[in-house]
Amino acid sequence: MNGLNQRYTVRPGGRLVGRLRVPGDKSISHRAIMFGALAEGVTEVDGFLEGADCLATLAAFQALGVRVEKPGAGHVRVHGVGLRGLRAPADPLDLGNSGTAMRLMAGVLAGQAFDSTMVGDASLSSRPMRRITEPLALMGARIETTQDGTPPLRVHGGRRLHGLDYAMPVASAQVKSALLLAGLYADGETCVTEPAPTRDHTERMLSGFGYRVQRDGPRVCLQGGGRLIGGRVEVPADISSAAFFLVGASIAPGSDLLLEHVGINPTRTGVIDILRLMGADIEVLDEREAGGEPVADLRVRHAPLHGIEIPQSLVPLAIDEFPALFVAAACAEGETRLSGAAELRVKESDRIQVMADGLAALGVRAEPTPDGIVIGGGGLSGGVVESHGDHRIAMAFAMAGLRAAGQVAVNDCANVETSFPGFVVLARTAGLDMDASA
Ligand code: S3P
Repeated sequence: MNGLNQRYTVRPGGRLVGRLRVPGDKSISHRAIMFGALAEGVTEVDGFLEGADCLATLAAFQALGVRVEKPGAGHVRVHGVGLRGLRAPADPLDLGNSGTAMRLMAGVLAGQAFDSTMVGDASLSSRPMRRITEPLALMGARIETTQDGTPPLRVHGGRRLHGLDYAMPVASAQVKSALLLAGLYADGETCVTEPAPTRDHTERMLSGFGYRVQRDGPRVCLQGGGRLIGGRVEVPADISSAAFFLVGASIAPGSDLLLEHVGINPTRTGVIDILRLMGADIEVLDEREAGGEPVADLRVRHAPLHGIEIPQSLVPLAIDEFPALFVAAACAEGETRLSGAAELRVKESDRIQVMADGLAALGVRAEPTPDGIVIGGGGLSGGVVESHGDHRIAMAFAMAGLRAAGQVAVNDCANVETSFPGFVVLARTAGLDMDASA
């Protein structure tokens, strides 16, 4: 994606109306490829997110000898090779911008008979990996990082893994999932305890593929040595992508938008709860289940927002939605305070600092703290913002343009492709007055 840069220009005054379906869930799409590859038999995935991150996972499994077909848009057919069927890759596996791909695959690759190397782009190459390499080492794995604990990861194969009972120091679904994936290859039982609830798509999908997973409060356990059986995975629309439209419609007068078939897994709905606490008008309609995940249509209408102290218990449940939520806070009446969110500093960018700088460029009082931010509300001016190649920062500031007093330009937006292909077309269709230029 580097070298293909893009600038968004957004003119104020738009409103978001109509109905739309945002692309498939990124977390579920990654896992559908991984579990499909490691299963026996064929897995048909519908609603797959064809964004660069999930395509990197797909290409990595192809390089590991898995046959994958793409019969139509959003439809992927994975010919599973079973837990022991992967083959040594010829070259390093390039996971691009995707922390999920690299961390989850580390769990898989730790259990293989062969060596492998994983690399990523500049952002991924600066992200912390010891959070997975240390517990995986306790299971018997050997994975080398740079001296700073960052990628490339060199995974040594042929290691005998044994089960582990691990209490995670950070609330991370990626760490939990990496350990559970390694646990499939381990002797005995692997258990992970989380300090706060994190997304549970791995546990749900393991069950969907016929693997026994036991949950007891914050602790989840599985026994190694079982089998995964391929089947069908239906991927709902990504609530993390819907979040930009929830915020955009909330802040833009005259908006009334229906977001269709959105995944509302309770480990992901913090954004709805936080926006409602701020006064947002969001209705959850026609709740149903699709492929083992709860989904619903979300109706959002403009409403005056007010600043709040964000409850810490909601932080892991909204971890990817803070760039958008900070824009909502900037448009709210009164101050919004966030703490307990230090994880935001090690996402695709340092989302506390990068958002604080962008909000300041739009005339908003934004005071970063080590684990959060204080945002003075009251509205935004026009200006130029740097997204630092972070997809969610780029989309958040595109929505800010709806309510700014002047034009908002956002630089370095090409990575929106990692999670939300077609964002500009969909946003324009809904009513955002924006352009993207090279
Ligand atoms: C993800 C987990 C989250 C999230 C990321 C996707 C996943 O990261 O931020 O975008 O699919 O497991 P952490 O688990 O590190 O918080």
